[in-house]
Amino acid sequence: MDCYIVLVYLSIVLLSRAYDDISYQHYAVQYPLFGGHAEFYKATNALDRNISTCTRNEGIGLNSQHKSVMWRVDFGRMYNIYSVNILFKHYEGYEMRQRGRFAGFSIYISNSGDIDTSALCYHDETGVPPLNFTTICLSFGRYVIFYNERLNGVSYPEKYEVSNVFTELCEVIVYGCKTAGTYGNNCDSQCPRHCRYNTCHIQSGTCFECEPGWIGSYCRQECAEGWYGQNCTLKCSGHCRDNASCDHVTGQCLDGCDAEWKGSRCDVEQIDLSYQKAATQLPLYSGLHELFKANNAVDRNITTCTRTDIIGPNSPDKRAWWKVDLGGMYHVNSIRIAFKKYDDFEMRQRGRLAGFSLFVSTDGSIENSSLCYKDGPKLPPLDFITHCVKYGRYVIFYNERLDAVSYPASYEHSSYTELCELTVYGCNKSGLYGNKCDFVCPVRCKDKICDIKNGTCLSCEPGFFGNYCTIDTFTCGENSA
Ligand SMILES: *[C@@H]1O[C@H](CO)[C@@H](O)[C@H](O)[C@H]1NC(C)=O
Ligand SMILES: *[C@@H]1O[C@H](CO)[C@@H](O)[C@H](O)[C@H]1NC(C)=O
Ligand SMILES: *[C@@H]1O[C@H](CO)[C@@H](O)[C@H](O)[C@H]1NC(C)=O
Ligand SMILES: *[C@@H]1O[C@H](CO)[C@@H](O)[C@H](O)[C@H]1NC(C)=O
Ligand SMILES: *[C@@H]1O[C@H](CO)[C@@H](O)[C@H](O)[C@H]1NC(C)=O
Ligand SMILES: *[C@@H]1O[C@H](CO)[C@@H](O)[C@H](O)[C@H]1NC(C)=O
Ligand SMILES: *[C@@H]1O[C@H](CO)[C@@H](O)[C@H](O)[C@H]1NC(C)=O
Ligand SMILES: *[C@@H]1O[C@H](CO)[C@@H](O)[C@H](O)[C@H]1NC(C)=O
Repeated sequence: MDCYIVLVYLSIVLLSRAYDDISYQHYAVQYPLFGGHAEFYKATNALDRNISTCTRNEGIGLNSQHKSVMWRVDFGRMYNIYSVNILFKHYEGYEMRQRGRFAGFSIYISNSGDIDTSALCYHDETGVPPLNFTTICLSFGRYVIFYNERLNGVSYPEKYEVSNVFTELCEVIVYGCKTAGTYGNNCDSQCPRHCRYNTCHIQSGTCFECEPGWIGSYCRQECAEGWYGQNCTLKCSGHCRDNASCDHVTGQCLDGCDAEWKGSRCDVEQIDLSYQKAATQLPLYSGLHELFKANNAVDRNITTCTRTDIIGPNSPDKRAWWKVDLGGMYHVNSIRIAFKKYDDFEMRQRGRLAGFSLFVSTDGSIENSSLCYKDGPKLPPLDFITHCVKYGRYVIFYNERLDAVSYPASYEHSSYTELCELTVYGCNKSGLYGNKCDFVCPVRCKDKICDIKNGTCLSCEPGFFGNYCTIDTFTCGENSA
């Protein structure tokens, strides 16, 4: 039995010996500074591995203005920690006084340097600790903090010194693994790849915490579908394009958003800019055109659709338009079309829709517009959506079947345009930009128009220039010199 205990004791000693001294010659601070020779008793004396140089603080306790003492080493980055050894100053013939001054101390391990957000590794309740003190402290952190206090009104155990309590640390040796991301008796095993801060339990190699997006003791599992982030506790927005799951680390939708949504995580709702706005179309349907009026595409009732007259070889009309006036200048982000569906005629309908274009126009003309999308040569789906980051007032759907053009075989040569819904998504107010439409365009942008992403003016009011139209030709020109 005795032999067994000795073996266990020996192996603990041997194991702890195998770890590296990670505090040697690092940076340290302390408080309160000793009034006499502060430099002589500096905080780093506890890290020089010379037992004859020690720190000393101003005394704390009953007859002092100071009630607490703090000493802190900063490793500069996170380390894997195994144990802490403190050598408190020993004076011949004063051992019990020194132990009474040391008594009641705490050791904290911290990522931030603040005791408030630190983990307590050890709190002394031994009565009077030995002056050569060691505790196992399986943890990780960037700072190790020594703390002690003698407060007024607290009754301390009999052996505690309560006045003139000088703290004198000759050495503070923190054992752990010097090489980042290692564990094991010889610090020669690699922590699992997705442990947070690249630190893990110094004996078992389990992670204390995982990097965002990973879970499990060894952080080998990705978050379940639909979840992301630290501890997989954040829910994906659920608005990624095509019902895709979000990135398990960042929550971003890698292939874009559903039509109504914006932002890298698709969590910013888009505004339907075309709803119940004034729409027109040409050529008018020769039948009951009132039944198929242009506004049917902006009523958000999928059962009512528009219809133009037929275009193509057997018709005098070769071009079809549908146009909505948004009623002001807007930032457009995407456009969705629900084209008319007839049971068993999907390919015919797609062949009729094929080849269309979408424009965003400032004045309703195609000449003064920018192209958002030009379809072809594959057949488009009847539920169609495209991103279209433009600024304008009108959105134009256009298609044509010209006599002189030979279209792909899958195209219908004669076409009716039947739009059940055409939805324009974007910022609902002019003069705004940014993902959430929450930034105001620079005041000197012409017509308050600016780039929806970076806020640069597309052109300036007369007399101003520069990306943001902040430069005034008047002060910058003749008058300034
Ligand atoms: C330890 O510090 C003392 C006092 O400063 C000094 O005299 C001695 O040379 C140091 N020892 C070593 C090994 O540096
Ligand atoms: C402190 O104690 C440990 C054993 O617990 C011993 O290895 C070490 O040499 C001691 N340090 C001093 C300075 O006595
Ligand atoms: C993640 O889990 C760890 C360990 O359970 C916990 O300390 C931490 O506060 C958690 N973080 C978040 C953001 O939930
Ligand atoms: C989207 O995903 C959810 C959950 O995985 C499923 O219930 C739903 O049917 C999917 N919708 C589409 C359109 O694929
Ligand atoms: C959609 O339009 C149809 C046909 O005009 C009508 O019967 C129906 O009530 C409308 N639905 C809604 C929700 O307005
Ligand atoms: C395009 O804009 C210019 C300048 O504002 C204007 O002169 C021209 O008439 C416009 N074109 C059409 C077809 O409206
Ligand atoms: C724009 O949308 C926001 C948020 O949905 C709303 O608070 C605001 O009243 C809308 N403004 C206009 C002019 O429609
Ligand atoms: C802003 O974005 C536009 C369009 O994406 C680009 O042409 C322009 O160079 C950008 N300006 C700046 C200052 O980034």
